Amino acid sequence: MEKLMIAGGSPLKGTVRVSGAKNSAVALIPATILAESPVTIEGLPDISDVQILKEIMEELGGTVSISESDITIDPSSMISMPMPNGKVKKLRASYYLMGAMLGRFKKAVIGLPGGCHLGPRPIDQHIKGFEALGAQVTNEQGAIYLRADELRGARIYLDVVSVGATINIMLAAVRAKGKTIIENAAKEPEIIDVATLLTNMGAKIKGAGTDVIRIEGVDHLHGCRHTIIPDRIEAGTYIIIGAAVGDGVLVDNVIPQHLESLIAKLREMGVSIESSDEQVFISSNNSLKPVDIKTLVYPGFPTDLQQPFTSLLTKTNGTSMVTDTIYGARFKHIDELRRMNAAIKVEGRSAIINGPVHLQGAKVKASDLRAGASLVIAGLMADGVTEITGLEHIDRGYSHIVEKLTGLGATIWREKMTEEEYEQINNG
Ligand code: EPU
Repeated sequence: MEKLMIAGGSPLKGTVRVSGAKNSAVALIPATILAESPVTIEGLPDISDVQILKEIMEELGGTVSISESDITIDPSSMISMPMPNGKVKKLRASYYLMGAMLGRFKKAVIGLPGGCHLGPRPIDQHIKGFEALGAQVTNEQGAIYLRADELRGARIYLDVVSVGATINIMLAAVRAKGKTIIENAAKEPEIIDVATLLTNMGAKIKGAGTDVIRIEGVDHLHGCRHTIIPDRIEAGTYIIIGAAVGDGVLVDNVIPQHLESLIAKLREMGVSIESSDEQVFISSNNSLKPVDIKTLVYPGFPTDLQQPFTSLLTKTNGTSMVTDTIYGARFKHIDELRRMNAAIKVEGRSAIINGPVHLQGAKVKASDLRAGASLVIAGLMADGVTEITGLEHIDRGYSHIVEKLTGLGATIWREKMTEEEYEQINNG
């Protein structure tokens, strides 16, 4: 087990290239199950979630080959293997195996990961969709059992706008008989990316990226090549780093339109940002104004950037408020930021941040992926050395983070934890 070490306080400068989107990748890989011939996905991020899904594809009988950041999956000899335990429990997005396997095999058994650190994350809307398509769904000892004699298109209204439910229902509906209409669908760019892959495979989908998606089921889906979109949350994290400790940071391979809410907030704070087709340039500014943010579904401010943004807010001149309307308990990073001298209190779904404070290096723990990103940013801002444990959470979603930050001039490295430290973490 390793921990992340950061000697903070120095300005960062240069270019950082964003990888393919994690939250697309974890849906695109299961989507390949639906094809009858090889699918190549170009530009996958080198993260542990992708590695685990690759191994799951092999367990299902698929042939997987990887060449740099491209993956080719031949799903033709896959079988509908039940997966109540094992690797599926390691990542939440294994729920996409339900929609994809239901679509192809008309049955699936998928174990679900337990509680996580963002508060409750139910999947009732996914199940509502599968049932509307004609599947029987039961939950037996923490695994979801799905079975259908036949999938039939249906009109499905989502009671909660959900990225996962929208994609999962699309995955099953492309192989249902007749027309499916998903109403109150989520509009995130990752949904358009998955719909683009499915369309390249021969699916008939209209309206992805709007709140009504229409799908006409087909009998066969075939292989294709697809290039994944850039990761808007990774890009947003580096943009925030540019605002926090940058002395001229260029973020490359980004779709600026995906980050309009973040860019608008940063400009409101006084950060100077220029964007072109695929790049965003952030200039330094040491006198930042406080702002309030409220996370919302896309195109609102993304919940996944709320934690990284909170670290930046510690250096503004005044009081800011961050409210998370998507995950009311996504505040596990706050106690850790307080250890670093931040003045933050949590009230219900909001964090109230008083600035400016000068953060100090400390020993802190990342409890989830974006909490980890928040602590990395704080570590870069802080005086002295910050030690971050829970690095496995960061490695789930940030490809080559040490190399990318080193490229910008940061002093950051991985260090093996001693046995004593490892025990302390696990008992603490
Ligand atoms: N919800 C329900 N019922 C459902 C599904 C969702 O009540 O059946 C609620 C959730 O509890 C939450 C809200 O609806 O309050 C939105 O959840 P959504 O389903 O949209 O989230 P998700 O699909 O499980 C994805 C990302 C998350 C990101 C959220 C919100 C993936 C694999 N994960 O999760 O990403 O926070 O959308 O944008 O795409 C991350 O990258 O760090 C991460 C957690």
